[in-house]
Amino acid sequence: MTNMNFEGRVVIVTGAGNGLGKSHAMEFARRGAKVVVNDLGGSGHGAGQSASVAQGVVEEIKAAGGEAIANTDSVEDGGRIVETALDAFGRIDVVVNNAGILRDAAFHKLGDADWDLIYRVHLKGSYAVTRAAWPHMREQGYGRVLMTSSGAGVYGNFGQANYSTAKLGLHGLAQTLAIEGRAKGIHVNTIAPIAASRLTETVMPPEMLKGLKPELVTPLAVLLCSEDCAATGQLFEVGGGWVTRLRWEQSRGATFDPVAGYSAEDLAARWDDVQSFEGSYHPTDLSNTLKIVGDNIGVEVALGPQ
Ligand SMILES: NC(=O)c1ccc[n+]([C@@H]2O[C@H](COP(=O)([O-])OP(=O)(O)OC[C@H]3O[C@@H](n4cnc5c(N)ncnc54)[C@H](O)[C@@H]3O)[C@@H](O)[C@H]2O)c1
Repeated sequence: MTNMNFEGRVVIVTGAGNGLGKSHAMEFARRGAKVVVNDLGGSGHGAGQSASVAQGVVEEIKAAGGEAIANTDSVEDGGRIVETALDAFGRIDVVVNNAGILRDAAFHKLGDADWDLIYRVHLKGSYAVTRAAWPHMREQGYGRVLMTSSGAGVYGNFGQANYSTAKLGLHGLAQTLAIEGRAKGIHVNTIAPIAASRLTETVMPPEMLKGLKPELVTPLAVLLCSEDCAATGQLFEVGGGWVTRLRWEQSRGATFDPVAGYSAEDLAARWDDVQSFEGSYHPTDLSNTLKIVGDNIGVEVALGPQ
């Protein structure tokens, strides 16, 4: 079965001072990885900072016989987090983008500051850490990157317009990085977890939180970041002991003569074909769309550089 040993591997886990990130960091270290425990140590809304949060997890890892170093930069300064890994351990193999905060508000009450901060921590932060690690992964011909999305991004959730946008953006980023990384041995996947943490303790009832240990999410993070795991560009939901994969579904749709064009009334007459998933496709890249559109306009449409 898959090799789950991380001996000799260097793993960055962002936001590893609490919740899911802490659980991931402890488990990677237990499996032999040298871990960079990154955490800014601020509040769940992104206020303040404290160095002791990351350091506390490093001490727990060391007490258990593992190897780890703390980094207290914001993920927005991704380059400094990767520098910590290189300075302390000389390489970087795995980036688990996990750091996160919430600034929930119904859209009509959402302020620019709430929008910008959520974008910066989740999307820009995951970009910044991954972008800094990427050349090193390319050069060594090996890397594993994990994005932490959310069901709120996949499905939408009241009061989380800013968060949903950033979270589904991470899956878009992961899908392109999976394509660009494939030839260099870099795999990039996305998880949408559910777990008890300070981010969910105010929105979920206590009996539900009890069953949602972060440790029930970590095995998927470990497996996806392990050497033998071939999965890349994939999206998973995970929580409470359930692990599942999501994919796109495309209806067969309706095609019209592209020269004659079509009216809204023509489309209404074919609306059932657009809506029905009977005989649907499950595309994993752009080729199905380009083939159907190309056939309809009588032109072979090619994909860009791979
Ligand atoms: N808990 C859930 O049910 C759930 C659901 C969907 C997605 N998520 C995502 O999982 C991730 C982990 O969340 P959690 O529930 O464990 O929350 P958590 O608050 O317990 O952990 C998040 C950690 O990120 C750190 N952090 C915040 N901003 C940072 C920054 N700029 N730089 C570095 N560290 C920073 C915090 O200090 C905190 O320790 C988040 O990205 C969250 O959006 C969680």
